[in-house]
Amino acid sequence: MDDGIREGAAGPGVWRTAPLWDVAGSLKIGGLLHDGRARDVAEAVEWHDGEARAARARFRDLSAQDKAALVAFISGL
Ligand code: HEM
Repeated sequence: MDDGIREGAAGPGVWRTAPLWDVAGSLKIGGLLHDGRARDVAEAVEWHDGEARAARARFRDLSAQDKAALVAFISGL
């Protein structure tokens, strides 16, 4: 998610890991991630890279049913 913007000691590719509670609230207001670019949880996961690349790979490996269950859980559905 390197946006070329440095903030203090945090380089352009360094982001605070967002807490996942009230993702439902964020979805009502707009999109997910720091700039709202992801329209839903699955899209947010697809934007993960770097340290979160392995988690993204494991998410991709889930069955469609397990993926849907995880997305529904995090979305508060
Ligand atoms: C399957 C596991 C994971 C899921 C389902 C997941 C899901 C999400 C979601 C839905 C968001 C957006 C939250 C919001 O905007 O309110 C998010 C943000 C974020 N996640 Fe994960 N995540 C996972 C694993 C990880 C791991 C392992 C890391 C780091 C090693 C990580 C780092 C981040 C960071 C830094 C953000 C904020 C990025 C930004 O604001 O642009 N995530 N994650």
